[in-house]
Amino acid sequence: MPQPQNKLIEKVIREIEHLPTLPQVVTKLLAMADSAKVNAVDLSKEMDQSLSAKVLKVANSAYYGGRAVRKVNSVHRAIVIIGFDAVKEIILTTSFFHTFQDTKEIEALQPLWQHSLECALVAKRLAWVYRYEAMDEAYLGGLIHDIGKLVIQQHFPDQSRLINNKNNGEVENLDREQEILGMTHAEIGGRMAEQWNFPEALVEAIAHHHDEKWQLNPNLGRILFYADRFVSGLIDFHRMLELFTQAGMRFPLNWHLDELKKVEEIFREEMKKAASILNNSPASQ
Ligand SMILES: [Fe+2]
Ligand SMILES: [Fe+2]
Repeated sequence: MPQPQNKLIEKVIREIEHLPTLPQVVTKLLAMADSAKVNAVDLSKEMDQSLSAKVLKVANSAYYGGRAVRKVNSVHRAIVIIGFDAVKEIILTTSFFHTFQDTKEIEALQPLWQHSLECALVAKRLAWVYRYEAMDEAYLGGLIHDIGKLVIQQHFPDQSRLINNKNNGEVENLDREQEILGMTHAEIGGRMAEQWNFPEALVEAIAHHHDEKWQLNPNLGRILFYADRFVSGLIDFHRMLELFTQAGMRFPLNWHLDELKKVEEIFREEMKKAASILNNSPASQ
């Protein structure tokens, strides 16, 4: 006879299989990342009216709006002014939040969205610093690394309460999740990424985002691991760079103190950007 916990794992897996699929635009966008020929017109064609409206709202928000002299009123113009990559990120982020918009406790989700978005922006910058080419992977990894927590919170409220009660105030405790649910939020996130057909390196990095010694793709694994710790306030900027160096990953050798200060400033800007995007995302409406 199966153990009750095995039954629970089966239920967790079944729930994951029935979770929402990502909008088609995200899948197309990720495929587009590989094509050098994609232009602003192609991208704007892929967007429906409500997504275009959201992109324009973010493009005119405090963070991005400052770059345009006049109000940005077409997606095409938004792409020209704030850049293809920025628009792509806005689409990925708003689509992702929109996918989970129907969930009951939108307010309660704000800290998780904020954390995820900060992690995405910092992971992308770390990918840039350490020349990890697939910056989209790093960004998406940050955005969805903790999605397993949402699944636990929404679909297993009793177990979620039990995990949190036993956590003694810690935000994450993988042992408790394993003990109570038979799976951790990281594993659940990996499964969701797999279901969304994300690249294998990304699926694995999400499933192991709490494993400092993850070896399958150590570059992406470390980027996600340290981005998460940095935005959680567990390590500061200099300590983070030091840990990358210790792990054998080097930032450009011609960077000295001045350059490092500038990079640190860029990381801070990214955190501000997160707040700006979030305040204009569907999750906040
Ligand atoms: Fe996590
Ligand atoms: Fe996290």
